[in-house]
Amino acid sequence: MLSIHSQFSNHFNYSPALVVKSPGRINLIGEHTDYNHGFVLPAAIDKYIEVAIGKRTDGAIHMVALDLGETIILPIDNLTPHATQWVNYIIGVVDQAFNRMKATNETKLAAGFNICIQGNIPLGAGLSSSAALECAVLFALNELYNLSLSRMQMALMAQAAEHTFAGVKCGIMDMFASLHGQKNKAILLDCESLAFTYYPIELKDYSIVLFDTQIKHALASSEYNNRRLECEQGLKIIQEKYAFVKTFRDISLEQVEECLASKVYQRCKYVVEEIARVQLAVKDLAKGDMQAFGKKMFETHEGLSKLYEVSCPELDFLVEAVASNENVLGARMMGGGFGGCTINIIKKTAVEEITKALSAKYNQAMHKELSYYITSIEDGTHLVA
Ligand code: GLA
Repeated sequence: MLSIHSQFSNHFNYSPALVVKSPGRINLIGEHTDYNHGFVLPAAIDKYIEVAIGKRTDGAIHMVALDLGETIILPIDNLTPHATQWVNYIIGVVDQAFNRMKATNETKLAAGFNICIQGNIPLGAGLSSSAALECAVLFALNELYNLSLSRMQMALMAQAAEHTFAGVKCGIMDMFASLHGQKNKAILLDCESLAFTYYPIELKDYSIVLFDTQIKHALASSEYNNRRLECEQGLKIIQEKYAFVKTFRDISLEQVEECLASKVYQRCKYVVEEIARVQLAVKDLAKGDMQAFGKKMFETHEGLSKLYEVSCPELDFLVEAVASNENVLGARMMGGGFGGCTINIIKKTAVEEITKALSAKYNQAMHKELSYYITSIEDGTHLVA
């Protein structure tokens, strides 16, 4: 296969100025806690979006999605959300960068650029291919035009782009992880202060395996935004009674029990429990107690499925099917939910057998093929030499 560098050259008749790779992510624990001021524990993985970029002079953006065989051309000024979603991930961050530059009377970006994109992050599998694309583009623009943006600034801008152009009110986890990943380390991010700490992941005899339901999370964005609203509602009700409460970090389970009812109660109970669980889980990690860590992953799944209600029959099936297997330390649905992957910590010597048996069972029960990915933890967004 031709390199992205050569494909860009073939397409635009000149060499790209630079090539950037940005990874997808896993999240070990801490789900739906990022937009609730909690903690998350993600890591960047060995699946990437790659972009090749070069300048133009006519104020246009030429975007080529190599895997899809699609090209879209737009003027860089006055960008608005586009009918084609992959385009939104690009122009969303361009819009962020452009507005930021305009505010300082900088016109660097106005001349436009050419960009080619390709990747091997499965789409809609909950591995944050969209965040990887946003981060790759922004990182490339930052290098190309010396915008002096820090990785955290880029993460925040990519998150804002997702809100305004893709219409998902996501938290910061995916972009943060793609940009800040380090080989063999998970990152504990405090989503309130944005302080973060790297934790070495030494799994020794174990592997991180993702089982892909092959369900594309179509419901995901509308239900995701709903969950966010329900949490905001719950927080507000508690704040009316307890004025000192600023965020979910200040809320106790007792207050949830006392103040809330029905769905809002369920959502907030899960969030408060999950925030506490992540803090305990990193202690397990520091002690190397992966048994205890894995147990918490199962508890998270239970909460996401029964209280937060963002699972689906296929995800539940995959977690239940491995729950009593002694070679599986932990398993749970991962990411936004309603499809995508489960994340599993499985003894290396048992991976093949478990995968084979699970594929057959899944196929029989759900009439779908099961894909799986044995992942390694890798560095975040970087230039390709
Ligand atoms: C999606 C969002 C993240 C996060 C997860 C759930 O991946 O993009 O911000 O909220 O869902 O933990």
